[in-house]
Amino acid sequence: MNNELPENRFPTSLLEENDGPGRNPTDNRTMGEIIAARFSRRGFLRGSLAVSAIAATVSPLALITADNARAAGGSAFNFEEVEAGVDENHHVAAGYDADILLRWGDALFADAPEFKPTAQTAAAQAKQFGYNNDYVGFIPIDGSSEHGLLVVNHEYTNPHLMFPGLVTIEEKDGKKAIKQAPLSKEQVDVEMAAHGGTVVEIRKVDGKWQVVKDGKLNRRITSNTEMQITGPAAGSDRLKTNADATGTKVFGTFNNCAGGVTPWGTYIMAEENIHGYFSGELPADHKEAANYKRMGIPEGAYEWAAHYDRFDVAKEPNEANRFGWIVEVDVNDPTSAPKKRTAMGRFKHEGAESIVNKDGRVVFYLGDDERFDYVYKFVTAGTYNAADRAANMDLLDDGTLYVAKFSEDGSVEWLPVVFGQGPLTADNGFASQADVLIETRHAADLLGATKMDRPEDVQPNGVNGKVYVMLTNNTKRKAEQIDAANPRAENAFGHIIEIAEDGGDFAATKGKWEVLLKCGDPSVADVGATFSTSTTANGWFGMPDNCAVDSAGRLWVATDGQGPKATGRTDGLWAVDTEGDARATSKLFFRVPVGAEMCGPLFTPDDQTGFVAVQHPADGGDDWKPFGRPSYYEDLSTRWPDFKPDMPVRPSVVVITKQGGGKIAV
Ligand code: FEO
Ligand code: CA
Ligand code: CA
Repeated sequence: MNNELPENRFPTSLLEENDGPGRNPTDNRTMGEIIAARFSRRGFLRGSLAVSAIAATVSPLALITADNARAAGGSAFNFEEVEAGVDENHHVAAGYDADILLRWGDALFADAPEFKPTAQTAAAQAKQFGYNNDYVGFIPIDGSSEHGLLVVNHEYTNPHLMFPGLVTIEEKDGKKAIKQAPLSKEQVDVEMAAHGGTVVEIRKVDGKWQVVKDGKLNRRITSNTEMQITGPAAGSDRLKTNADATGTKVFGTFNNCAGGVTPWGTYIMAEENIHGYFSGELPADHKEAANYKRMGIPEGAYEWAAHYDRFDVAKEPNEANRFGWIVEVDVNDPTSAPKKRTAMGRFKHEGAESIVNKDGRVVFYLGDDERFDYVYKFVTAGTYNAADRAANMDLLDDGTLYVAKFSEDGSVEWLPVVFGQGPLTADNGFASQADVLIETRHAADLLGATKMDRPEDVQPNGVNGKVYVMLTNNTKRKAEQIDAANPRAENAFGHIIEIAEDGGDFAATKGKWEVLLKCGDPSVADVGATFSTSTTANGWFGMPDNCAVDSAGRLWVATDGQGPKATGRTDGLWAVDTEGDARATSKLFFRVPVGAEMCGPLFTPDDQTGFVAVQHPADGGDDWKPFGRPSYYEDLSTRWPDFKPDMPVRPSVVVITKQGGGKIAV
């Protein structure tokens, strides 16, 4: 494409930063009057702290902390905090080991070729660990916390970091500009093989985790793996292409961000920023034009359409409807076709963490990661059968998708995204549930859902019964667009919402919510961060993205988008207290090398191992003082984790254990 690139960033990096205007055209909740009500209530609470009548619907604590950091007791986390900062390496709290477990290019099969970065091939890549590890899940074998299947998403590729000879720097009008040469077909094929997911057997031997290279369930899933489309949209005319007249068979998955492991031990891959893989022009009067505009399709950050017609919307206009779904993988059968579960909606899926409800139905929480988009949940129609795995294998084809409407009185309502209900009828262009699901965003717009500040991971917590919603940021939110659940204009640092579903019933259609934490530097008054006063200068963070709950029900938050300019620190993993006097206290446990974001995180059921994924290390560095120039294959801001001159930077999964053994944090 030979583009001149803005601000020293590369196309796939820019896509991932989601730095567009947001594509939600509705004005569902520009709630000036609601804000006015909220603030007047806040004044009331300040003057009468003893009044508790309102506490049932709006937490006085949440309102008070909007302006004042909380005085707090000590953190429930006993580790010694890492110092926040930026350098070439990763750092973990003292007394822990943080070992590299799997790097981009590592062999996953006994016959996989050795990684040769200057001569990488698609065939080799398809047998090696993929690029830009994101979601990490662990599926125990025989209930063990020391032997299991690690499942890892490979969200996207950074060609400027992967391939030699692509980038040149040119002087123009006294300014340096970076240029990226077009990719060859072989390089596009490597990219397609580096996307998707990995299933790999791992085992702890003498206290150290090892990859089992000849594990019989080891598998790579790529952007070419044959998959099935299932559920209400399967077979829709809008999913049919030249290659598939049935609308039920599709090749591959990509931009798999976060995901989940189901209670029945399958692996969920969420398809997120799928718009970047499509190019070409759709006629303005095409029947999919409005649908694709709402999803930002085509965006063209990737060059796949130059070599494969299915990624050109002019040549294959329905292909993009076959992406943006939740994918379920049966890890017990490495030959099985992964299933795109259309009942769970089509949007920029961040993840799909689940919990078995008290009535046996399974509830999945889903974020749509774009500015001003929505939080969803999916409730299965059937119930989970712990005694019969096979009985659960199609639970995700039948259920109800809901979208969240957060109100200023501290309530949340889950609105059914169901054909024939409310505005989801032929009058608004829907002929079936398939149409509703293919255009889930449009359906949610019509329902009046609450436009959020980039919903990322949404994590149910089975210990305290709450649900945690990570909202990364939204600098495009204007003052007149703030609402109770998105209370800051130009929200640069994001926030976390805590939901309590009515009656502790995760399938309930109503609940209560409050803001757990507004992120950013609490020492800068204008930022309005609400970390507790026990939180140190290292302990605060911005841009919450992925998260995990350990077996004690404690919250760990990983971030995406910090850096020297934004917060003066790299991304990392922070432990966040949610209970008691320490609520909203945060401590830095692990930090990534320069340019990376923090994905994963995950703990084994015994809490003795933590997995974190270091994604896109060395992407950036021009704003980092000792480096200070664009980072690309020949001139990298870090060569983590090998630090060898002939080895490029490699996204990797890191495994964390406590020296001498024991739980990560007690
Ligand atoms: Fe791929 Fe929403 O982070
Ligand atoms: Ca994410
Ligand atoms: Ca991210």
